[in-house]
Amino acid sequence: MSLAEHQIEVKQQDIFRNEYCRGCESPKLETFLNLGQMPAPNRFLNRAELDQAEPFYPLTVELCNECNLVQLGHVVNPEILFANYVYSPAASKTMIRHFDGLAQIAVARSEAQPNDLVVVPGSNDGTQLKPFSRLGLRVLGVDPAKNLAEIANSEGLNTQVSLFTEEEAKNIKDQHGSAKLITATNVVAHVHDLKDFFKGVTTLLDKDGMFISEFPYLPDLIKKLEFDTIYHEHLTHFALAPYQRLLATHGLTIVDVEKLEVHGGSIRVFAKPGDRQPSGEVESLIATEGAQGLNNISTYQRFSKDVYQVGRDLRSLLESLQDRNYTVAGYGASAKGNILTNFCRLGPEILSGIYDSTPYKQGKFTPGMHLPVLSEGSLLENQPEFSVLFAWNFAEEIISKQREYRKRGGQFIIPIPVPSVVKYVESNGKDSY
Ligand code: TYD
Repeated sequence: MSLAEHQIEVKQQDIFRNEYCRGCESPKLETFLNLGQMPAPNRFLNRAELDQAEPFYPLTVELCNECNLVQLGHVVNPEILFANYVYSPAASKTMIRHFDGLAQIAVARSEAQPNDLVVVPGSNDGTQLKPFSRLGLRVLGVDPAKNLAEIANSEGLNTQVSLFTEEEAKNIKDQHGSAKLITATNVVAHVHDLKDFFKGVTTLLDKDGMFISEFPYLPDLIKKLEFDTIYHEHLTHFALAPYQRLLATHGLTIVDVEKLEVHGGSIRVFAKPGDRQPSGEVESLIATEGAQGLNNISTYQRFSKDVYQVGRDLRSLLESLQDRNYTVAGYGASAKGNILTNFCRLGPEILSGIYDSTPYKQGKFTPGMHLPVLSEGSLLENQPEFSVLFAWNFAEEIISKQREYRKRGGQFIIPIPVPSVVKYVESNGKDSY
């Protein structure tokens, strides 16, 4: 089936055009990148679905010329995107360590006391709640994915199945009192109705409480060409300046910010209700963003050109390996990988499959390119000569775990910012790259 035959007509209620800035409601939106038609990036298919039509949606990115917020040009119905939400932080040691650190910092900074309430929108399978619970706080997770909330509740981590909205925030406050802490890790970028979300935060937060949010940082995305993190679930890509402006409209002041390595470069933002003095760190990061040209469309247009170049370079690197009869696979059936493989049109004729540790994905096929997802354990059996790391955010964890694969001659390719074969340095029995 050709791609055109394969796409089904997308119904109007499945997608709508973003006409006004999600942050400041201005209509002055300017498109700077068009990644083409893309399938929902986490919609893995069963074998029986391979011959059925698959929905594709436009994926464009725009800049608000009023407040400089970067956002997608279209919004896909969240029921389509999150129906089978498969993200599981418990699968990664890096994320478990990350959430331990977040809980300790959050409790210290907010001066939360045992039994204070912490509410976690987007709490997923409860991995984020565990360290708060160990520190003696009352935890409440809020997540729309029933399957994940069930996992959390079965471990005694109180989780309600819903989106985090103003109405839900009122209900929570009535039932549990106000929250000393609200933490939102990789949540705000997924929310279309930010007004409703932040009204929820201010309704529920204690007047001395703290709202901590974390999300991938736009300047890192631009600098490191992480364009594969652009997909329908990530509606907004925040820099600090437009985020500060957005929070201020809801009476929240950003008091401090911290840079994080996670997910290719993120920030952790500390906000409190009322008028307060931001730290020097906040002011200096905002000044740096201005100096990096983030308030100027030409910066984004340059980025867009570089994206097309990476796409061409990755494809020609893989084609040249194939010409030399090497087997090439993917590693990490991430949403990012699904964007990259669709953008570069890397189908089964180029990649033999994608190895992944997630039981749910194994035995299925990737959206759009229909690459088989193979168990991580079978990498050594098949020993492809090259593996493209589509989960480059876990490069260190994966590369060190796959020592035996490398010893037998297997090599990893990191696709961005310049597609390249990873070189290792060994010292004290440990590898780094
Ligand atoms: P993820 O970080 O969730 O990215 P995205 O948000 O783009 O989907 O994807 C990482 C994928 O990599 C996930 O499917 C699990 C897989 N993975 C492995 O196969 N082995 C590993 O050791 C790790 C850490 C992840």
